[in-house]
Amino acid sequence: MTLGDRSPVSRRSFLKGAGGVAAAGSALGAAQALSASQQVERLSGTTEIQLDINGEKFKVRVEPRTSLLNALRNHCEPPLTGTKIVCDRGSCGACTVFVNKQPVYSCMLLAVDCTEKKITTVEGLAVGGKLTHVQEEFVAHDALMCGFCTPGFVMSVTACLEKNPKATREEIQSACSGNLCRCGTYPRIFEAALAAGKKLQGGR
Ligand code: FES
Ligand code: FES
Repeated sequence: MTLGDRSPVSRRSFLKGAGGVAAAGSALGAAQALSASQQVERLSGTTEIQLDINGEKFKVRVEPRTSLLNALRNHCEPPLTGTKIVCDRGSCGACTVFVNKQPVYSCMLLAVDCTEKKITTVEGLAVGGKLTHVQEEFVAHDALMCGFCTPGFVMSVTACLEKNPKATREEIQSACSGNLCRCGTYPRIFEAALAAGKKLQGGR
């Protein structure tokens, strides 16, 4: 048996270890050359982005996989929790927001893909605390029970009536075909939408 055989550190493993230390040293040097925020990005796998929501700029730190819905509710300060999370997989409409004025499911969009876009959430509809006609009529018609679907319906109805305040019940129903209400408040929702359309036509 040679001295090399008895040694817990062989020549080969020593050389490997020395290489690893050198590599770690150079990685540490590279990390030190990074700014604090770059180091956070490297270590956490997150990136800081800016979102334009309801006319305000929000800086949020998100992972590449973070949905717009998650960014709104959990990464904005203050949190924008008006947009509801229900299915989180594009089948219920509770998370509907406007992106560049188009109603979309925010659970199906990546936050990092929305940096150049204008986002409107249900919080952004009322101006100066004054509810919109759609919101007022939802209240007046008691068009909700648990309320989880309500912001999504308000957004879809708003988008529909902005295009056409004279939308018929069938057209409103079609515009809301991507929104589900498990409590079954559909009749009241559509009555509220028709009443809001009338108000909009009257310019009130
Ligand atoms: S939570 Fe997005 S569609 Fe249901
Ligand atoms: S009011 Fe409960 S899901 Fe619509």
